[in-house]
Amino acid sequence: MNFHVMTLFPEMVLEGLGTSITGRAMEKGLISIEAVNIRDYSEEKHHHVDDAPYGGGAGMVMQPGPVCGCYEDLCRKMGKRPRVLYMTPQGRVFNQSIARELAGEDDLVFLCGHYEGIDERALEEIVTDYLSIGDYVLTGGELPAMVMIDCISRLVPGVLNNDASAEIESFHDNLLEYPQYTRPEVFRDRRVPEVLLSGHHKNIETWRREQSIKRTYERRPELLENANLSRKEQEYLAELRSGERADEED
Ligand code: ADE
Repeated sequence: MNFHVMTLFPEMVLEGLGTSITGRAMEKGLISIEAVNIRDYSEEKHHHVDDAPYGGGAGMVMQPGPVCGCYEDLCRKMGKRPRVLYMTPQGRVFNQSIARELAGEDDLVFLCGHYEGIDERALEEIVTDYLSIGDYVLTGGELPAMVMIDCISRLVPGVLNNDASAEIESFHDNLLEYPQYTRPEVFRDRRVPEVLLSGHHKNIETWRREQSIKRTYERRPELLENANLSRKEQEYLAELRSGERADEED
């Protein structure tokens, strides 16, 4: 999987993703991350890439020439025109199912804006997807691009040591992850739930599913609308809703 980031701050992207799991995935050749400086495609003497907005108003707007020039140079080198994801609070809000869909591509181009945005004509020319990471405004698209690259990378086979965990973690089946415990057995008078020490795999699996449902019900109930629950699990949820399980210990 190859990520290409068009940005005015390539070092921010490379330093941020060069460590930990994404860094290791790059070393192993499972993913590649290229950050291209849009400024290199300015045709001005002083390498400016922004100018005042037509019609007036605050701030500066990134000019269309360097943005399109940067993308077209990428396309020429790749021999194809991959999808271009523009990072904007006006886009569809990124989530795990969008990540899954994007993980099916071989190449993805991330376009990061700064200042008051990018000249609309450049967006019309090259952007295929408008994506946001949430309903708040950041100073630029680099952090959103890094968030999405991190999330998509962990879905690439081999990136996580444990193949199973990418799917088991939060949002698999639209449920939040169950609580995890490790040694010691007792910490500040808090015991690890007995079932986890039992070695009884079937009971552990049932307990974990129930904990996922309980947690989702308490913290993100809206996710349950699209959760895939068995008959027994639906009954468990109905008990939670009716308050029957309210006093029960985890
Ligand atoms: N650029 C600025 N804010 C953003 C956001 N919330 N998501 C994506 N890109 C952005």
